[in-house]
Amino acid sequence: MSSGSSDHGNVTTSHSQSILARLPKCEHHLHIEGTLSPSLLFELAAKNDVDLPDRPEFASQEALEEYYKHFTDLQSFLDAYYVGSSVLITADDFERLAWDYLTAAKRDGVWHAELSFDPQAHHRRGISIDVVIEGLSRATKRAEAELNMSTCLIFCLMRDLGLNLALKTLRLAEEHIRNGTIVGIGLDSTEVGIDFKSFKPLYDLALSYGLRITAHAGEEGPPQNVWDTVDVLGCRRVDHGVHAAEDPALLQHLADTRTLLTVCPISNVCLKVIEHVRDSPLPQFLAAGVPFSINSDDPAYFGASGILECYQAVQNAFNWGPEEWLWICRSSIEGSWMDDEKKDKMLAACNVVLAEWESARGRNNLGR
Ligand code: ADE
Ligand code: ZN
Repeated sequence: MSSGSSDHGNVTTSHSQSILARLPKCEHHLHIEGTLSPSLLFELAAKNDVDLPDRPEFASQEALEEYYKHFTDLQSFLDAYYVGSSVLITADDFERLAWDYLTAAKRDGVWHAELSFDPQAHHRRGISIDVVIEGLSRATKRAEAELNMSTCLIFCLMRDLGLNLALKTLRLAEEHIRNGTIVGIGLDSTEVGIDFKSFKPLYDLALSYGLRITAHAGEEGPPQNVWDTVDVLGCRRVDHGVHAAEDPALLQHLADTRTLLTVCPISNVCLKVIEHVRDSPLPQFLAAGVPFSINSDDPAYFGASGILECYQAVQNAFNWGPEEWLWICRSSIEGSWMDDEKKDKMLAACNVVLAEWESARGRNNLGR
């Protein structure tokens, strides 16, 4: 998925590149539908006899790849993303998508992957939630057995479809929640015109099922959406959260409550949330003691930039050293939904890589 240099900033030194490649990683913010490449999209559309819209961008794989380079905002991306999702029909399609992602993530150094998916985007097209979960869980189980990765599935509800449909959809997954296949819920899609507080009954239901909880907030929307996510919905994890940087009291609150922001800097550039990765508020999060992880969001729509490329883009922008990367590793591991034994193992492995970096810096004056 990724190689040394990046289109999203300067070129990192080869030393820090190799360190970042070797760092054990957690991916917390990845929409599996967002890993559907244009080539697989056309292949599955043909196999499943799905009619794509009669619009110029769907005329060919090349036209679609070009179109993906010019999103103007979140909604322009979502419009393409839901069309893309419509070619996924069978459990095998979902399995293949997830397996392709998991093998690429393994190459990028991911030890623990939390995969979000949008059940409503499929259910409203007549695809049963059981089919979606069957395909995804075949791939995640295989990754646990063959790739030695831990995985989670996050049931992500679309907030523009409203509370009632979200509640109904979550209830459809009860069996998969009971048997541990679904471990958490998320909330995604647009933030425009949404009252986050209205989703409190959904979060109460999820907590009553024993699920973990997260929600997209503060991607395009104001800091108030992040406040509502933590204060009203009760989340100790927020997906994106970049606009939290505008509110010092909120930063303090996120730091005090050790709330993890799962940030996606390349996504933010592609969706015009920020102009460059160097404009991302990550240094403010670091200074304020806010935990954050770095994630790829929808890599197939954002130049096939997997998690390692996201790490490299951040390094290109900020030229950090082992101390800052230790903060990111610690935040990622502590905020993960994996067991404590794996957390300890992963932190120890990160410490080994970062200690090497530290000592190489001292020995060779290699810098960052
Ligand atoms: N669904 C998939 N990617 C998303 C994003 N970046 N923001 C909101 N909803 C999404
Ligand atoms: Zn997202």
